[in-house]
Amino acid sequence: MKIARRVANLPPYLFVEISKKIAAKRAGGEEVISFAIGDPDAPTPQHIIERLCRAAREPANHHYPETEGLPELRRSIAGWYQKRFGVSLDPDREVLPLIGSKEGIGHIAWCYIDPGDTALVPDPAYPVYAIGTTLAGGEPYYMPLTEENNFLPDLDAIPEDIAKKTKLLWINYPNNPTGATADIGFFDRVVQFARKYDIAVCHDGPYSEVAFDGYKPVSFLEADGAREVGVEFHSLSKSYNMTGWRIGMAVGNADMINALKIFKSNLDSGIPQAIQHAAIEALSGPQDCIEKHNDIYQRRRDLIIETLADIGIKAVTPRASLYIWAGVPKGYTSVEFAADLLEQVGVVVTPGTGYGPHGEGYIRLSLTIPDASLLKGLNKLAAWRGVKR
Ligand SMILES: Cc1ncc(COP(=O)(O)O)c(C=O)c1O
Repeated sequence: MKIARRVANLPPYLFVEISKKIAAKRAGGEEVISFAIGDPDAPTPQHIIERLCRAAREPANHHYPETEGLPELRRSIAGWYQKRFGVSLDPDREVLPLIGSKEGIGHIAWCYIDPGDTALVPDPAYPVYAIGTTLAGGEPYYMPLTEENNFLPDLDAIPEDIAKKTKLLWINYPNNPTGATADIGFFDRVVQFARKYDIAVCHDGPYSEVAFDGYKPVSFLEADGAREVGVEFHSLSKSYNMTGWRIGMAVGNADMINALKIFKSNLDSGIPQAIQHAAIEALSGPQDCIEKHNDIYQRRRDLIIETLADIGIKAVTPRASLYIWAGVPKGYTSVEFAADLLEQVGVVVTPGTGYGPHGEGYIRLSLTIPDASLLKGLNKLAAWRGVKR
Protein backbone atom coordinates (compact mmCIF):
# COMPACT_ATOMS: atom_id res chain seq x y z
CA MET A 1 0.00 0.00 0.00
CA LYS A 2 1.32 3.43 -0.87
CA ILE A 3 0.57 6.18 1.61
CA ALA A 4 -0.41 9.63 0.37
CA ARG A 5 2.35 12.15 -0.33
CA ARG A 6 0.97 14.54 2.27
CA VAL A 7 1.78 12.01 4.97
CA ALA A 8 4.82 10.43 3.36
CA ASN A 9 6.46 13.87 3.07
CA LEU A 10 5.95 14.80 6.72
CA PRO A 11 9.12 15.02 8.82
CA PRO A 12 9.14 12.68 11.84
CA TYR A 13 7.53 14.52 14.78
CA LEU A 14 10.41 15.91 16.85
CA PHE A 15 9.57 14.30 20.17
CA VAL A 16 8.93 10.87 18.70
CA GLU A 17 12.57 10.85 17.58
CA ILE A 18 13.81 12.08 20.95
CA SER A 19 11.76 9.44 22.82
CA LYS A 20 13.29 6.73 20.60
CA LYS A 21 16.83 7.87 21.44
CA ILE A 22 16.09 7.95 25.18
CA ALA A 23 14.53 4.46 25.04
CA ALA A 24 17.59 3.08 23.20
CA LYS A 25 20.00 4.50 25.81
CA ARG A 26 17.93 3.28 28.74
CA ALA A 27 17.64 -0.17 27.16
CA GLY A 28 21.45 -0.23 27.23
CA GLY A 29 21.29 0.27 31.02
CA GLU A 30 22.32 3.93 31.06
CA GLU A 31 20.74 6.54 33.28
CA VAL A 32 19.30 9.26 31.11
CA ILE A 33 17.84 12.54 32.39
CA SER A 34 15.60 14.36 29.97
CA PHE A 35 15.13 18.12 29.83
CA ALA A 36 13.37 17.70 26.50
CA ILE A 37 9.60 17.75 26.82
CA GLY A 38 7.35 20.51 28.20
CA ASP A 39 4.88 18.32 30.04
CA PRO A 40 4.19 19.51 33.64
CA ASP A 41 5.50 16.88 36.04
CA ALA A 42 3.08 17.54 38.92
CA PRO A 43 -0.36 15.90 38.80
CA THR A 44 -3.59 17.70 37.92
CA PRO A 45 -4.83 19.48 41.09
CA GLN A 46 -7.08 17.28 43.22
CA HIS A 47 -10.25 19.41 43.09
CA ILE A 48 -10.18 19.14 39.27
CA ILE A 49 -9.78 15.34 39.38
CA GLU A 50 -12.63 15.04 41.87
CA ARG A 51 -14.95 16.96 39.59
CA LEU A 52 -13.85 14.77 36.65
CA CYS A 53 -14.63 11.58 38.62
CA ARG A 54 -18.06 12.85 39.69
CA ALA A 55 -18.87 13.83 36.11
CA ALA A 56 -17.65 10.46 34.76
CA ARG A 57 -20.19 8.67 36.99
CA GLU A 58 -23.05 10.78 35.61
CA PRO A 59 -24.90 8.95 32.74
CA ALA A 60 -25.71 12.31 31.09
CA ASN A 61 -21.99 12.54 30.29
CA HIS A 62 -21.77 9.16 28.56
CA HIS A 63 -23.17 10.36 25.22
CA TYR A 64 -21.75 12.11 22.17
CA PRO A 65 -20.81 15.64 23.17
CA GLU A 66 -21.68 18.69 21.02
CA THR A 67 -18.86 20.11 18.86
CA GLU A 68 -19.25 23.54 20.47
CA GLY A 69 -18.92 22.09 23.99
CA LEU A 70 -21.19 22.58 27.00
CA PRO A 71 -22.62 26.12 27.31
CA GLU A 72 -21.34 26.13 30.91
CA LEU A 73 -17.80 25.45 29.67
CA ARG A 74 -17.98 28.25 27.10
CA ARG A 75 -19.23 30.59 29.84
CA SER A 76 -16.39 29.48 32.14
CA ILE A 77 -13.84 30.22 29.40
CA ALA A 78 -15.39 33.66 28.83
CA GLY A 79 -15.47 34.28 32.59
CA TRP A 80 -11.80 33.31 32.92
CA TYR A 81 -10.79 35.67 30.07
CA GLN A 82 -12.73 38.49 31.72
CA LYS A 83 -11.14 37.90 35.10
CA ARG A 84 -7.60 37.25 33.87
CA PHE A 85 -7.29 39.72 30.97
CA GLY A 86 -10.32 42.03 31.24
CA VAL A 87 -11.42 40.74 27.81
CA SER A 88 -15.20 40.25 27.31
CA LEU A 89 -16.15 37.38 25.03
CA ASP A 90 -19.53 36.22 23.74
CA PRO A 91 -19.57 32.56 24.89
CA ASP A 92 -21.81 31.55 21.97
CA ARG A 93 -19.96 33.26 19.12
CA GLU A 94 -16.42 33.93 20.27
CA VAL A 95 -15.48 30.77 22.19
CA LEU A 96 -14.80 27.25 20.94
CA PRO A 97 -13.48 24.45 23.19
CA LEU A 98 -10.90 22.17 21.54
CA ILE A 99 -9.57 18.64 22.06
CA GLY A 100 -6.31 20.20 23.24
CA SER A 101 -5.12 23.34 21.47
CA LYS A 102 -2.86 21.32 19.10
CA GLU A 103 -5.98 19.97 17.45
CA GLY A 104 -7.39 23.43 16.69
CA ILE A 105 -3.98 24.79 15.67
CA GLY A 106 -3.63 22.01 13.11
CA HIS A 107 -7.18 22.32 11.84
CA ILE A 108 -7.53 26.08 11.43
CA ALA A 109 -5.20 25.95 8.44
CA TRP A 110 -7.86 23.87 6.66
CA CYS A 111 -10.34 26.70 7.19
CA TYR A 112 -8.17 29.47 5.68
CA ILE A 113 -5.52 27.88 3.49
CA ASP A 114 -6.27 26.71 -0.04
CA PRO A 115 -3.58 24.87 -2.03
CA GLY A 116 -0.81 27.33 -2.91
CA ASP A 117 -1.75 29.87 -0.21
CA THR A 118 0.82 31.31 2.17
CA ALA A 119 0.93 31.33 5.97
CA LEU A 120 3.47 33.39 7.90
CA VAL A 121 5.13 31.11 10.43
CA PRO A 122 7.83 32.00 12.97
CA ASP A 123 11.20 30.23 12.80
CA PRO A 124 11.93 28.70 15.30
CA ALA A 125 8.42 27.66 16.36
CA TYR A 126 6.13 24.96 17.65
CA PRO A 127 6.13 22.67 14.59
CA VAL A 128 2.34 22.37 14.17
CA TYR A 129 1.91 25.85 12.61
CA ALA A 130 3.97 24.86 9.58
CA ILE A 131 2.74 21.27 9.46
CA GLY A 132 -0.95 22.32 9.51
CA THR A 133 -0.22 24.77 6.69
CA THR A 134 1.57 22.14 4.60
CA LEU A 135 -1.10 19.49 5.17
CA ALA A 136 -3.72 21.95 3.90
CA GLY A 137 -1.62 22.37 0.71
CA GLY A 138 -0.24 25.78 1.66
CA GLU A 139 3.27 27.11 1.96
CA PRO A 140 4.80 28.48 5.13
CA TYR A 141 6.82 31.70 4.72
CA TYR A 142 9.20 31.74 7.65
CA MET A 143 9.71 34.82 9.82
CA PRO A 144 13.06 34.55 11.62
CA LEU A 145 13.00 35.09 15.39
CA THR A 146 16.39 36.42 16.38
CA GLU A 147 17.95 37.37 19.68
CA GLU A 148 18.70 40.90 18.34
CA ASN A 149 14.96 41.41 17.82
CA ASN A 150 14.03 39.84 21.19
CA PHE A 151 12.68 36.83 19.30
CA LEU A 152 9.82 38.87 17.81
CA PRO A 153 9.20 38.65 14.05
CA ASP A 154 10.18 41.74 12.07
CA LEU A 155 6.92 42.46 10.26
CA ASP A 156 8.55 45.24 8.21
CA ALA A 157 10.94 42.69 6.71
CA ILE A 158 8.12 40.67 5.13
CA PRO A 159 8.15 41.38 1.39
CA GLU A 160 5.04 43.17 0.08
CA ASP A 161 4.25 40.42 -2.46
CA ILE A 162 4.35 37.78 0.30
CA ALA A 163 2.18 39.85 2.67
CA LYS A 164 -0.36 40.37 -0.11
CA LYS A 165 -0.83 36.65 -0.68
CA THR A 166 -0.75 35.65 2.99
CA LYS A 167 -3.92 34.19 4.49
CA LEU A 168 -2.79 33.32 8.02
CA LEU A 169 -0.20 34.75 10.42
CA TRP A 170 1.05 32.69 13.38
CA ILE A 171 2.53 34.20 16.53
CA ASN A 172 3.14 32.67 19.98
CA TYR A 173 3.96 34.50 23.23
CA PRO A 174 5.14 33.58 25.81
CA ASN A 175 7.14 31.74 23.20
CA ASN A 176 8.04 28.14 22.73
CA PRO A 177 10.95 27.46 22.27
CA THR A 178 12.70 30.78 23.02
CA GLY A 179 10.90 31.76 26.25
CA ALA A 180 10.47 35.29 24.82
CA THR A 181 7.51 37.47 25.73
CA ALA A 182 5.58 40.14 23.83
CA ASP A 183 3.98 43.34 25.07
CA ILE A 184 0.77 44.95 23.93
CA GLY A 185 2.67 47.30 21.59
CA PHE A 186 3.81 44.31 19.53
CA PHE A 187 0.27 42.92 19.39
CA ASP A 188 -0.97 46.37 18.26
CA ARG A 189 1.52 46.27 15.38
CA VAL A 190 0.32 42.79 14.43
CA VAL A 191 -3.29 44.04 14.30
CA GLN A 192 -2.28 46.92 12.01
CA PHE A 193 -0.32 44.60 9.72
CA ALA A 194 -3.23 42.12 9.56
CA ARG A 195 -5.71 44.90 8.74
CA LYS A 196 -3.47 46.30 5.99
CA TYR A 197 -3.15 42.94 4.20
CA ASP A 198 -6.42 41.27 5.24
CA ILE A 199 -4.69 38.46 7.10
CA ALA A 200 -6.25 36.20 9.75
CA VAL A 201 -4.07 36.19 12.88
CA CYS A 202 -3.66 33.13 15.09
CA HIS A 203 -2.00 33.89 18.40
CA ASP A 204 -1.05 30.80 20.35
CA GLY A 205 -0.86 31.56 24.06
CA PRO A 206 -0.80 28.35 26.13
CA TYR A 207 1.98 29.66 28.41
CA SER A 208 0.26 32.86 29.52
CA GLU A 209 -0.08 31.51 33.08
CA VAL A 210 3.48 30.20 33.39
CA ALA A 211 5.35 33.36 34.38
CA PHE A 212 7.95 34.42 36.92
CA ASP A 213 9.17 37.29 39.07
CA GLY A 214 5.65 38.76 39.25
CA TYR A 215 5.34 39.16 35.46
CA LYS A 216 1.80 38.73 33.98
CA PRO A 217 1.74 38.04 30.23
CA VAL A 218 -0.90 39.86 28.16
CA SER A 219 -3.46 38.33 25.81
CA PHE A 220 -3.44 39.17 22.09
CA LEU A 221 -7.14 39.98 22.53
CA GLU A 222 -6.23 42.90 24.79
CA ALA A 223 -4.91 44.75 21.72
CA ASP A 224 -7.36 47.21 20.12
CA GLY A 225 -9.11 45.60 17.17
CA ALA A 226 -7.57 42.15 17.80
CA ARG A 227 -10.86 40.33 17.64
CA GLU A 228 -11.62 41.88 14.23
CA VAL A 229 -8.54 40.17 12.78
CA GLY A 230 -7.78 37.08 14.80
CA VAL A 231 -8.18 34.41 17.39
CA GLU A 232 -6.14 33.24 20.34
CA PHE A 233 -5.52 29.58 21.00
CA HIS A 234 -5.23 28.64 24.65
CA SER A 235 -4.99 25.49 26.65
CA LEU A 236 -5.54 24.03 30.08
CA SER A 237 -2.52 21.77 29.55
CA LYS A 238 0.21 23.96 31.00
CA SER A 239 -1.83 26.22 33.33
CA TYR A 240 -3.48 23.37 35.24
CA ASN A 241 -1.19 20.38 34.53
CA MET A 242 -3.84 18.86 32.28
CA THR A 243 -1.82 17.77 29.23
CA GLY A 244 -3.23 14.24 29.48
CA TRP A 245 -6.88 15.28 29.45
CA ARG A 246 -6.70 17.06 26.10
CA ILE A 247 -8.63 20.27 26.44
CA GLY A 248 -8.01 23.76 25.12
CA MET A 249 -9.88 26.56 23.40
CA ALA A 250 -9.94 29.09 20.58
CA VAL A 251 -11.37 32.52 21.37
CA GLY A 252 -11.84 35.75 19.46
CA ASN A 253 -13.02 36.55 15.93
CA ALA A 254 -16.54 35.12 15.55
CA ASP A 255 -16.15 34.27 11.83
CA MET A 256 -12.92 32.36 12.46
CA ILE A 257 -14.47 30.55 15.42
CA ASN A 258 -17.45 29.63 13.25
CA ALA A 259 -15.25 28.35 10.41
CA LEU A 260 -13.31 26.15 12.83
CA LYS A 261 -16.57 24.90 14.37
CA ILE A 262 -17.95 23.94 10.94
CA PHE A 263 -14.72 22.10 10.08
CA LYS A 264 -14.58 20.26 13.40
CA SER A 265 -18.26 19.30 13.38
CA ASN A 266 -17.52 17.31 10.22
CA LEU A 267 -14.47 15.62 11.66
CA ASP A 268 -14.61 15.04 15.42
CA SER A 269 -17.36 14.54 17.95
CA GLY A 270 -16.31 16.98 20.62
CA ILE A 271 -14.61 16.68 23.99
CA PRO A 272 -15.71 13.95 26.44
CA GLN A 273 -18.12 15.74 28.77
CA ALA A 274 -16.49 14.59 32.02
CA ILE A 275 -13.34 16.36 30.82
CA GLN A 276 -15.35 19.47 30.01
CA HIS A 277 -16.59 19.44 33.61
CA ALA A 278 -13.01 19.13 34.83
CA ALA A 279 -12.13 22.17 32.70
CA ILE A 280 -15.04 24.15 34.17
CA GLU A 281 -13.67 23.36 37.63
CA ALA A 282 -10.13 24.34 36.60
CA LEU A 283 -11.20 27.69 35.14
CA SER A 284 -13.79 28.64 37.77
CA GLY A 285 -12.33 27.00 40.90
CA PRO A 286 -9.39 28.03 43.09
CA GLN A 287 -6.43 29.39 41.12
CA ASP A 288 -3.71 29.08 43.77
CA CYS A 289 -2.15 26.05 41.99
CA ILE A 290 -0.85 28.39 39.28
CA GLU A 291 1.31 30.42 41.64
CA LYS A 292 2.44 27.27 43.44
CA HIS A 293 3.62 25.69 40.18
CA ASN A 294 5.28 28.89 39.01
CA ASP A 295 7.30 29.12 42.22
CA ILE A 296 8.63 25.62 41.52
CA TYR A 297 9.42 26.40 37.88
CA GLN A 298 11.13 29.67 38.83
CA ARG A 299 13.39 27.88 41.30
CA ARG A 300 14.28 25.28 38.68
CA ARG A 301 14.87 28.00 36.10
CA ASP A 302 17.39 29.70 38.36
CA LEU A 303 19.20 26.43 39.15
CA ILE A 304 19.45 25.49 35.46
CA ILE A 305 20.67 28.94 34.40
CA GLU A 306 23.30 28.84 37.18
CA THR A 307 24.56 25.40 36.14
CA LEU A 308 24.66 26.37 32.47
CA ALA A 309 26.71 29.45 33.40
CA ASP A 310 29.10 27.19 35.37
CA ILE A 311 29.90 25.26 32.21
CA GLY A 312 30.17 28.38 30.10
CA ILE A 313 26.77 28.25 28.40
CA LYS A 314 24.92 31.51 27.90
CA ALA A 315 21.14 31.59 28.28
CA VAL A 316 18.59 34.37 28.55
CA THR A 317 16.64 34.09 31.81
CA PRO A 318 13.01 33.70 30.68
CA ARG A 319 10.21 35.74 32.30
CA ALA A 320 7.65 33.16 31.23
CA SER A 321 7.07 29.78 29.49
CA LEU A 322 8.42 26.39 30.49
CA TYR A 323 11.68 26.76 28.57
CA ILE A 324 15.26 27.93 28.68
CA TRP A 325 16.75 28.74 25.29
CA ALA A 326 20.50 28.40 25.66
CA GLY A 327 23.32 29.08 23.22
CA VAL A 328 25.54 26.13 22.26
CA PRO A 329 29.30 26.36 22.87
CA LYS A 330 31.52 27.49 19.99
CA GLY A 331 32.38 24.77 17.53
CA TYR A 332 29.14 22.81 17.88
CA THR A 333 25.92 22.81 15.90
CA SER A 334 22.71 22.40 17.93
CA VAL A 335 22.39 18.77 16.93
CA GLU A 336 26.05 18.03 17.63
CA PHE A 337 25.87 19.59 21.08
CA ALA A 338 22.62 17.79 21.99
CA ALA A 339 24.21 14.52 20.82
CA ASP A 340 27.36 15.25 22.83
CA LEU A 341 25.39 15.89 26.02
CA LEU A 342 23.52 12.62 25.56
CA GLU A 343 26.65 10.66 24.71
CA GLN A 344 28.94 12.09 27.38
CA VAL A 345 26.69 12.71 30.37
CA GLY A 346 23.30 11.11 29.55
CA VAL A 347 21.37 14.40 29.41
CA VAL A 348 18.68 14.96 26.80
CA VAL A 349 17.97 18.47 25.52
CA THR A 350 16.16 19.52 22.36
CA PRO A 351 18.35 20.84 19.55
CA GLY A 352 17.14 24.28 18.48
CA THR A 353 16.97 23.27 14.83
CA GLY A 354 14.10 20.92 15.73
CA TYR A 355 12.02 24.12 15.72
CA GLY A 356 13.37 25.54 12.47
CA PRO A 357 16.68 26.59 10.87
CA HIS A 358 16.91 29.78 13.00
CA GLY A 359 17.08 27.53 16.05
CA GLU A 360 20.66 26.77 14.97
CA GLY A 361 23.09 27.68 17.73
CA TYR A 362 20.61 26.94 20.53
CA ILE A 363 19.26 24.12 22.65
CA ARG A 364 16.01 24.09 24.61
CA LEU A 365 15.71 22.85 28.19
CA SER A 366 12.34 22.34 29.83
CA LEU A 367 11.50 23.25 33.44
CA THR A 368 9.08 20.33 33.85
CA ILE A 369 11.66 17.91 35.18
CA PRO A 370 10.82 16.54 38.67
CA ASP A 371 13.11 17.87 41.43
CA ALA A 372 14.85 14.52 42.13
CA SER A 373 15.77 14.12 38.47
CA LEU A 374 16.59 17.82 38.16
CA LEU A 375 19.40 17.56 40.71
CA LYS A 376 20.82 14.50 38.98
CA GLY A 377 20.46 16.25 35.63
CA LEU A 378 22.26 19.35 36.92
CA ASN A 379 25.12 17.26 38.27
CA LYS A 380 25.39 15.50 34.94
CA LEU A 381 25.34 18.84 33.09
CA ALA A 382 28.01 20.17 35.43
CA ALA A 383 30.08 17.07 34.70
CA TRP A 384 30.18 17.98 31.06
CA ARG A 385 33.74 19.27 30.59
CA GLY A 386 34.45 18.04 34.12
CA VAL A 387 33.18 21.07 36.02
CA LYS A 388 32.81 20.10 39.71
CA ARG A 389 29.73 21.17 41.71
C1 LIG B 1 3.35 26.68 21.67
C2 LIG B 1 2.45 25.52 21.92
N1 LIG B 1 1.22 25.55 21.43
C3 LIG B 1 0.35 24.54 21.63
C4 LIG B 1 0.73 23.42 22.33
C5 LIG B 1 -0.25 22.29 22.46
O1 LIG B 1 -0.86 22.21 23.70
P1 LIG B 1 -2.10 21.31 23.95
O2 LIG B 1 -2.48 20.60 22.69
O3 LIG B 1 -1.72 20.37 25.03
O4 LIG B 1 -3.21 22.25 24.36
C6 LIG B 1 2.03 23.32 22.83
C7 LIG B 1 2.46 22.11 23.53
O5 LIG B 1 3.58 21.90 23.90
C8 LIG B 1 2.91 24.40 22.63
O6 LIG B 1 4.16 24.39 23.10
